[in-house]
Amino acid sequence: MKAIAVHPRQPNSVHLEEIEKPSVEDIPGGRGVLMKSISIGVDATDAEINEGLYGNPPPGDDFLVLGHESFGIVEEVGPAVTEVEPGDYVCFTVRRPGGSIYDVIGRSDMTSEETYYERGINLLHGCLTEYVVDSADFVVRIPKTLKHIGVLSEPASVCAKAIEEAYLAQKRMQVWNPKRAFVLGSGQIGLLATMMLRLKGLEVHTLARSPREGNLKAEIAEAYGATYVSTKDVTMQDLAQKVGRPDLIIEATGHSGLAFEAMEVLNLNGVVVWTSITGGDRKIEVPADKINLEWVLGNKLLLGSVNGNVDHFKLGIKYLALGEAMYPGITEKILTNPVNGLDNYAELMRLLVEDKSALKVYMNI
Ligand code: BGC
Ligand code: ZN
Repeated sequence: MKAIAVHPRQPNSVHLEEIEKPSVEDIPGGRGVLMKSISIGVDATDAEINEGLYGNPPPGDDFLVLGHESFGIVEEVGPAVTEVEPGDYVCFTVRRPGGSIYDVIGRSDMTSEETYYERGINLLHGCLTEYVVDSADFVVRIPKTLKHIGVLSEPASVCAKAIEEAYLAQKRMQVWNPKRAFVLGSGQIGLLATMMLRLKGLEVHTLARSPREGNLKAEIAEAYGATYVSTKDVTMQDLAQKVGRPDLIIEATGHSGLAFEAMEVLNLNGVVVWTSITGGDRKIEVPADKINLEWVLGNKLLLGSVNGNVDHFKLGIKYLALGEAMYPGITEKILTNPVNGLDNYAELMRLLVEDKSALKVYMNI
């Protein structure tokens, strides 16, 4: 069967590979789930992998099948699978356990080992192919009523984890009750985080570069009840002065400079969550004394958050469902750029890398 793959560390190597169709028997203990792929999303991580900046192939292979944002339908399950059955809509989580205590307890998203195993990213093949098999331990059911946005399950899991981590960490404050959030970036992570924080009742300001007028991303953020602020009109600092400093900042711009700039506007006792994967080597100057001083005097917290485990996927899907109830028909507007058929891998990558207006690029298989 066909698969979209790259030669990691080799720029622009995306190509079609012919690989063997997997089977439920590939997974030990009768725990195999065979998924027929429906739609697989791509994101900035895939772009970085194809640029040669990030990712590694499985040992023994010189190629890596891309695709970590999966959505499909169960075709067959092994005899020891109770979680899902044929005909269920599902996705698979991304990371697989290594050997640390966190991996053992189902928190491979928090592994304490340097090496991490991620489908379609690092050391494991991904889902940009016709069929995928994996253990039922890593499968997540998606309600039929969400099948039109099922391909957003993985990005939703990343946001759900980032927000949950922030709230868990802020238990340190004993009475933390955040009122205002800044979400930096209006890509899929920025918009889904905007939705989730609005569902939690926060005043949300979504900041991104593009002008507000005629901008779908602004329209979506505002439909979720957030304000959209173009940083071309108002800087992060000016906004904080105008509306008040945010208690929570979710940084999802993919730009490390902005991750540091965020540290200059956070409210006392607040938390900044960094979620961008920045494989480059950008260097910037920061007002180190100022940030250091304010950080100490303000008891502020900087949190990195990556990936998501099965529970974060389930939480992300709950948010997607509540989002549909509260803001019907809005989330699907994120799905701007479908590409049909694995043969069109070049178009998939072109849209992802070159088309700045493409909010979400994904492949219908
Ligand atoms: C994926 C995560 C992954 C991270 C780091 C992101 O694009 O969505 O699941 O953990 O990249 O590789
Ligand atoms: Zn991703």
